[in-house]
Amino acid sequence: SEPVTILGLESSCDDTAAAIVRHCDGAAPEILSSVVLGQTDLHEAFGGVVPEIAARAHTEKLDLCVEQALADANVTLDQLDAIAVTAGPGLIGGVLAGVMLAKGLAAGTGLPLIGVNHLAGHALTPRLTDGASFPYLMLLVSGGHSQFLIAHGIDDFTRLGGTIDDAPGEAFDKTAKLLALPQPGGPSVEAEAKSGDPTRFSLPRPLLDRPGCDMSFSGLKTALLRERDRLVEAHGGLRVQDRADLCAGFQAAVTDVLAEKSRRALSEYIASNPFDPVFAVAGGVSANMQIRAALETVSKEFGARFLAPPLALCTDNAAMIAWAGIERLRAGLTDDMTLAARPRWPL
Ligand code: KG4
Ligand code: ZN
Repeated sequence: SEPVTILGLESSCDDTAAAIVRHCDGAAPEILSSVVLGQTDLHEAFGGVVPEIAARAHTEKLDLCVEQALADANVTLDQLDAIAVTAGPGLIGGVLAGVMLAKGLAAGTGLPLIGVNHLAGHALTPRLTDGASFPYLMLLVSGGHSQFLIAHGIDDFTRLGGTIDDAPGEAFDKTAKLLALPQPGGPSVEAEAKSGDPTRFSLPRPLLDRPGCDMSFSGLKTALLRERDRLVEAHGGLRVQDRADLCAGFQAAVTDVLAEKSRRALSEYIASNPFDPVFAVAGGVSANMQIRAALETVSKEFGARFLAPPLALCTDNAAMIAWAGIERLRAGLTDDMTLAARPRWPL
């Protein structure tokens, strides 16, 4: 069939992104361009993403982002087949900024408009990067989400379990804040953990004693806070090695929980899908090398093929949105100008 070329927009959290993806049937999809403009510097002083600041920055940067994506891909608007945009879930101001720009572009060009669920964007990434076929087991671990899904189709996901409080990325970010490390917390905690001893502190592994795939990470953060305060009191501050050991201990605890819950999810998935099982990860936390390695080991235990997208496609990006747009366009699932921005939108 004809090649399809789609522009994707993403602005649901603190990254403004635009990308162009092209796909010819029977060939691997091509990411012609992928532009991601972060906002970390804008939120740094506040210790977290400030929704109003994020929304304004998205509005200011989206146009530029689109122009850059078109230029990098050497593609003009009239060579596109559709405009795909994250329509939720996320911070509503940012989602609205993206949806409004996408509507403007669709109205101006006459191209179809496609609203994409941000989580579906992450969950369909293994098809973009590895051509994964349904059904596959997916662990989605990001700053706002953590869940095990079986992906049966582009609009058909079964949730096996997920966090009952903080998402693991959020726990990494809060840990970084507790230890006065820069945001986003994941990469800085991971870097500190390299020189730390993961066994020095005994931190909890919440919910491991309970059956099922649900997870909890907020107790871990509380335990960490207690250890930090104890150390600060004893030594008048946090020593370099204390901090590294706390990071290593925290990362090891998160890794253990994710690994054990992955075993349970894999058993459940394989029980009903024994043929060529695939276990894929996505979301920002899957950029963590120790977590990746542990999940790969678990996957091997079950004889499942392990898929982890390249790091740039694990964290928020617009190529995954453009790809989800291609999948939806091929399935005839387009939207019209009534497309709404949704702050909440479970898969
Ligand atoms: O998927 P993502 O870019 O955004 C959404 O939350 O949707 O994920 C961002 C999250 C942040 O919480 C960040 O700290 C975490 O992913 N993260 C990591 C690493 N890189 C990013 N967590 C652990 N280790 C990392 N290397
Ligand atoms: Zn995300």
